[in-house]
Amino acid sequence: MSRHKISFSVNGERYELEVEANQTLLRLLREDLGMTGTKCACERGDCGTCTVLLDGEPVKSCLVLAVEADGRGVTTIEGISKGGEITPLQRAFIEHGAVQCGFCTPAFIVAGEALLKRNPHPTEEEVKEAIGGILCRCTGYRQIIDAIMDASKKGEK
Ligand code: FES
Ligand code: FES
Repeated sequence: MSRHKISFSVNGERYELEVEANQTLLRLLREDLGMTGTKCACERGDCGTCTVLLDGEPVKSCLVLAVEADGRGVTTIEGISKGGEITPLQRAFIEHGAVQCGFCTPAFIVAGEALLKRNPHPTEEEVKEAIGGILCRCTGYRQIIDAIMDASKKGEK
């Protein structure tokens, strides 16, 4: 398998690495960079738990090749909080009981943060659309939607 040099940033930090041509961004993050906050389940685009932001847009990192990240910026759950402080969205997840086993939570948080950045006051339908590709087997989604809506309302104050 051929190897390729890539240069990209993760959570603001620059990396220059050699990757296999068929390596996914998900495996690069988890196995080479040790960033296991991004979860690995189906590895075929079904569950969404591997969601990260690529140049600010949510992507399923199991469907993105590492070489496609060349020259781009990735944000993972490890880069969401700043200075050890959780974000208003993360706080809302806690307050609404939107976290149970937590396996899906990093994906919902990064997708929710991306949504609130581009659309600070989404409708419930827009929230549902933004998180539509991510599966949670525990909470039933109501609490997750409520948490994102609540964080958007708190952002108005
Ligand atoms: S691990 Fe990527 S969608 Fe399931
Ligand atoms: S909280 Fe368990 S899968 Fe979502």
